[in-house]
Amino acid sequence: MHALGVRAHDEIAAASDAGTLDAVRARYLGRGDGLLTVVRKQIGAVADPEARRAMGQTVNAVVERVTEALEERRAVLSAASTGSSTETIDLTWPPPPLRRGHLHPVSRVFRDVRRIFAQLGYVPVSGPELEYDRYNFTLVNMPPGHHSRDTQDTFYVDDDRLLRTHTSPVQIRSMLIRGAPQRVIVPGKAYRRDYDATHFPMFFQVEGMCIDEGIALSDLKGTLEFFARSTFGIDRAIRMRPHHFEFTEPSVELDVTCAVCGGEGCRLCKGSGWLELLGGGMIHPNVLRNGGVDPARYSGFAFGIGVERIAMLAYGIEDGRLLYENDVRFVSQA
Ligand code: PHE
Repeated sequence: MHALGVRAHDEIAAASDAGTLDAVRARYLGRGDGLLTVVRKQIGAVADPEARRAMGQTVNAVVERVTEALEERRAVLSAASTGSSTETIDLTWPPPPLRRGHLHPVSRVFRDVRRIFAQLGYVPVSGPELEYDRYNFTLVNMPPGHHSRDTQDTFYVDDDRLLRTHTSPVQIRSMLIRGAPQRVIVPGKAYRRDYDATHFPMFFQVEGMCIDEGIALSDLKGTLEFFARSTFGIDRAIRMRPHHFEFTEPSVELDVTCAVCGGEGCRLCKGSGWLELLGGGMIHPNVLRNGGVDPARYSGFAFGIGVERIAMLAYGIEDGRLLYENDVRFVSQA
């Protein structure tokens, strides 16, 4: 009897999974033919009442201890299969790939533009986004009532103040602060009441301004050629077309050879081989004067780069609204 109990205990201790333990339980306590069950059934056949009682007590005690041992072992095995205490960690297993973030395409272009002009010695400066009408329009040669104001759908805050429609008012502010000569860029936000594939109510511009003695249109051309080639590739060509801005004279629009076809003519450039890049020109003498700079001694050029436009050209984005809708499927493309 005791030998049976000891054997049961050994087998329970050796059981390494729940299935083996179930088999041990069946072998000793199984309803019909469990080894202990069979012994128990024989108790009734013992004739002597004293001996019968003693045997009953012994068998019951063994059954009880085996039952307890089975429960304990089951608890240990289930803790091991789900619990952390005996879990092993394989330090040689490669970790899951890390998801790396990246800059938004507009931030990237913004950063690149600043870097390119820093190479030419341009200093970044800033001005207020909530601007006076006077700086945004009047002092850059667009007096009250001038028809050109209508083309910039302006967010007015009150009669005097507005959200600047371009970064050009900082030309005046920077001249008043720094005088001449100077070379600055103004990376910043501008606002217009506009929303379609190429216009956004809030957008980024980088204004550039260079003032010194003897500055000519050829200097503007060389500067912007450097910019275009740094941005789109060394084999790019540029061309200037006559244009009109109130604050520059002469004014130009600058085209770069198409990023897709390289000048052959394709859908993006509508067959022309050229893409419109930015506007600029020689600073109008009135504007220099409004900034306190003597146009008899100094001349200068200015230009305005549309950051979203560069991003669209650089990344082949057809609808610029994608830049601001924050659809993760779009912005997570590295
Ligand atoms: N301010 C002009 C615009 O927003 C761009 C520009 C800047 C043109 C400087 C000429 C010189 O369209």
